[in-house]
Amino acid sequence: MKPVSEERSAPEQPPPWTGPAAKSERAVPLDLPGFLTREHHRVHLVGVAGSGMSGIAALLIELGHTVSGSDKVSTTETDRLQRLGLRFREQHRPEEAGTADLIVFSSAIKNDNPILVSARNYGKPIVRRAEALAAIMRSKRGIVIAGMHGKTTTSAMTAHVLREGGLHPCHYVGAEIPVLGTNAHWDSRGQYFVAEGDESDGTVALFRPEHTLILNIEEEHLDFYADLDAIEKVFAQLITQTAGTVFYNLDDKNAARVCRSLARGISYGFADEADYRAVDIRLTGFASTFRVDHRGQDLGEAVLNVPGQHNVHNALGVIALASELGIAFEKIAKSLAKFEHARRRFEIKYDSPRFLLVDDYGHHPTEIRATLKAARSVGRKRVLTMFQPHRYSRTKALRKEFGRAFDDADRVVVTDVYGSSEAPIPGVTGQIIADEIVGHGHRGVSYQPRLEWVHRAVGNMLESGDLVLSLGAGNIHEQLSALAADLVIAEKLKELVGEGGDVRLYEPLSKHTTLRVGGPAQFWVEPRTEKAFAELIRFCGDENLPLFVMGRGSNLLVRDGGVRGVVVHPCGGDFDKIEIDGVEITAGVGAKLKEVAYAGKAAGIGGMEWMEGIPGAVGGGLRMNAGAMGAQTFENVVRVRYLDANGEAHTKSRDELEVHYRDFPLLEKNFAVSAVFRGQPAPLEEIVRKLEASQEKRRTSQPAAKSAGCIFKNPDSCPAGKLVDELGLKNAHVGKARVSEVHGNFIVNDGGATAADMLELIEKIKATALAKRGIELETEVQIVGEPG
Ligand code: EPU
Repeated sequence: MKPVSEERSAPEQPPPWTGPAAKSERAVPLDLPGFLTREHHRVHLVGVAGSGMSGIAALLIELGHTVSGSDKVSTTETDRLQRLGLRFREQHRPEEAGTADLIVFSSAIKNDNPILVSARNYGKPIVRRAEALAAIMRSKRGIVIAGMHGKTTTSAMTAHVLREGGLHPCHYVGAEIPVLGTNAHWDSRGQYFVAEGDESDGTVALFRPEHTLILNIEEEHLDFYADLDAIEKVFAQLITQTAGTVFYNLDDKNAARVCRSLARGISYGFADEADYRAVDIRLTGFASTFRVDHRGQDLGEAVLNVPGQHNVHNALGVIALASELGIAFEKIAKSLAKFEHARRRFEIKYDSPRFLLVDDYGHHPTEIRATLKAARSVGRKRVLTMFQPHRYSRTKALRKEFGRAFDDADRVVVTDVYGSSEAPIPGVTGQIIADEIVGHGHRGVSYQPRLEWVHRAVGNMLESGDLVLSLGAGNIHEQLSALAADLVIAEKLKELVGEGGDVRLYEPLSKHTTLRVGGPAQFWVEPRTEKAFAELIRFCGDENLPLFVMGRGSNLLVRDGGVRGVVVHPCGGDFDKIEIDGVEITAGVGAKLKEVAYAGKAAGIGGMEWMEGIPGAVGGGLRMNAGAMGAQTFENVVRVRYLDANGEAHTKSRDELEVHYRDFPLLEKNFAVSAVFRGQPAPLEEIVRKLEASQEKRRTSQPAAKSAGCIFKNPDSCPAGKLVDELGLKNAHVGKARVSEVHGNFIVNDGGATAADMLELIEKIKATALAKRGIELETEVQIVGEPG
């Protein structure tokens, strides 16, 4: 939950208990604080799953009310509240208004919501979330934490320190805080109520607290405020309504200007004149240490286990406040050392010696700069960032500032705007932020409008030593979680292939197919030894991960959504070896067929010249029983070594193997490791002549452009290329996929073709061949992967 993320559609109105001047068309109880904290009623919350609303629900339940709530979605929060006694409906039914004594509504709820309409008809009292909160708080000594950045952390820290100090505070903060247990809690034993104030819609001015802590004041929420002046006015009103002390950050120029002249003000910061001052500050990785000076008196040392200089400021504010409430410094320091971060505030999602994944809610340029600075100070090699702009209005208003906020990131992937409940503003997309960052001179920025692909973009950049940071107040953290989940597997795969092998996440298969088409492999793994390959097979079996082997990708069409699971690319090491023994050539599956032909030439072995014309590797040649110049792979093969589904190695000779035209079924469930080819002694001139003939045939009858070789198997009645030619389909195209004018059985990629283009063209050819010639063409090219 998070108050600032709520959208406002309801009219701004002063709280009903502020006096007769308050004009309201809504019926409200005259004494809302008494109604909510001293009596028991039936209260219905409209939009109960919303940010902020779940906290109110929790407080009302603890206060003894009979609480019901409705929302169009259920969440883990509504599930938790139901266990506490909330009656929840995933629908806004007008009848709810009839049975409730009071309706509380989220500012995300539109005026024509059926429950609100019905409540107005019934004349039932209706109040906004912030009004309910302010009223509940009035029955206690209120402490409001206000400011643009750091409210949730600081209000949680305050509640935690007061709780540890034995003051039994009630609290209401903008996120689930592990150290506090829940986002809101009513404690009848204590006098204080700590709340995060929401300045985003001016409702912070509803509070009449005893104390206020002002962290910073800056241009924000410009969808609601005209300018900084208007923002400062709301803060000024909150200060006027504060009965006791106003604690403020002297290092923040706007907060200092607004508060400096206050007689009831107590300042904190790094500046010499601050009443509470941090000195000897040491920022190390995730922790900070500093001493606190109170008007010339050294209070002692504080250790903070949340990173960044901004958190030293936040902690100082808490120290000032708690000290003035009479808690001993030693006690405060001890509690601060135990304080853990709120969810989504520099939350570590994955930590290994090679990678660190951190999520942060930062969505304002100032927060982003502070968080990136903290990320940089952790000491990993690079900082990669995924950023989701939050709200169209903020994206538009602060685009220039966003452009300058990412200097501390080595790479930034920007996705599209998370609108919250705002309607899109034409022309305002993540692209404008990416452009601003580029315009500012950053060289590692890209834009990925599809949110669900962001983790792939960042994951594919990963190198050992990287810190990945997700930034934004929307749902970008889900992308970091997706990356973290895959990284767990990737690291295990890396262990299996060892130092020599390679593992990459989301490797674009367009880089590994001759057609230059195809989405990413979830896990791209390059083992270098037969042993590592065998272990991979066993691991995938145990983990239920699909495993697909890919050689040089010459006969392959990978769909645009890529391949799920592990794509094994056996290359290098054992797999590229070629050894000659008499007229036999043993070649690993990663060696190119072409290289086998040339090894034969070097050793005076003929009969393999045709392999010169095949762009694939030995593994692919075996799998497809590839052929050219009237010959085919298994005419030369004498033995095949392979691993079975359990990773056990076997060797079989040619006569034990079942082989068909362009098909070797054994490799459907087994994995070739190497093969022995046999030729015959031949004079060098004869070998050279045959090699040249093959080259010549290829040069004159096949396109040089990017292709996957022949697309269709040759039907018995007529070679497929001839058939396509006769059907007049040469140069037929879909997008950038085109039937070659050189050879009808080749589809070429004119640059930027997609698998979808290719598949559509293939279907058109098949349909035409069937309709006009009654021939059912069958694809020779292997088609794999998920649709895009
Ligand atoms: N033809 C046409 N028009 C065309 C293409 C071919 O009339 O646009 C005629 C040719 O003139 C020839 C006949 O069709 O009379 C067969 O063509 P080609 O000799 O090019 O052989 P292919 O059967 O189309 C096969 C393999 C190729 C291999 C060549 C060269 C198949 C499906 N294809 O092609 O292998 O390179 O022989 O030996 O068996 C591959 O499998 O990916 C591949 C490229």
